[in-house]
Amino acid sequence: GLVDFGRPASVAPTKRAQVRGILEQLIDTELAPGDAIPSERALVTRLAVSRVTVRQAIADLVEGGVLERVHGKGTYVTGPQVDSRLHLTSFSREMRDRGLIPATVVLSAREEAADDEVAYALRIRPGRAVVRVERLRTADGTPMAYEVGNYPSALFPGLLDRELGSLYDVFASVYGVVVTSGEQTVRAEAADAHQARVLGIAKRAPLLVQERVTYAGDRVVELATSAYRADRYRIHMAITPRG
Ligand code: GLP
Repeated sequence: GLVDFGRPASVAPTKRAQVRGILEQLIDTELAPGDAIPSERALVTRLAVSRVTVRQAIADLVEGGVLERVHGKGTYVTGPQVDSRLHLTSFSREMRDRGLIPATVVLSAREEAADDEVAYALRIRPGRAVVRVERLRTADGTPMAYEVGNYPSALFPGLLDRELGSLYDVFASVYGVVVTSGEQTVRAEAADAHQARVLGIAKRAPLLVQERVTYAGDRVVELATSAYRADRYRIHMAITPRG
């Protein structure tokens, strides 16, 4: 659901916010992505509130991306909304922590020679073998991210024979490599034709693209680009005074 930024304890939630909360609960417990929500009339009866309030609450959820209006048809549940706190966590774990079921479609996986850019980031010699994995990541069946990662073959022999669902799990359980830190940038990008097709979104739709270099101790284990759907994924940060 929508992130709850909290509110001052002394301020009572408005009717609109209350109804929004009830609707979110109803969506979580009774509906699945793609389902239509009950009609305004039905909600007015069920929740015993005015039509105006129901409309406002629905408008808030449309605005927040939880619901989507399909012209002439109705209002539908869109799918999971994830607020990422950008911890050093895997996709699988991040989704599970939110009660969503992660899944992976491996689009391609192969060993190749590192080009200059990949070699530089992974701190290996150009031409050394790297495993390049291209994956679609889903949460509760909804496409969330398109990821391309590069991993030094020397660190992960036989990686291509493994199940590439959660890479961080495989690294830890098979190779004893536990990720300890990372450097990451996030930028906005418009989906190209390939990304749009894989993610099931319109070409040029907005993406949040994370570029990550990941370390296990002082070894570089990953150079990955993860393109998240901007309508499904937001970045949430706690902001504190500058020290
Ligand atoms: C996130 C990171 C990727 C990383 C992935 C690992 O999505 N942006 O850089 O490869 O997590 O997740 P998993 O262990 O589920 O494969």
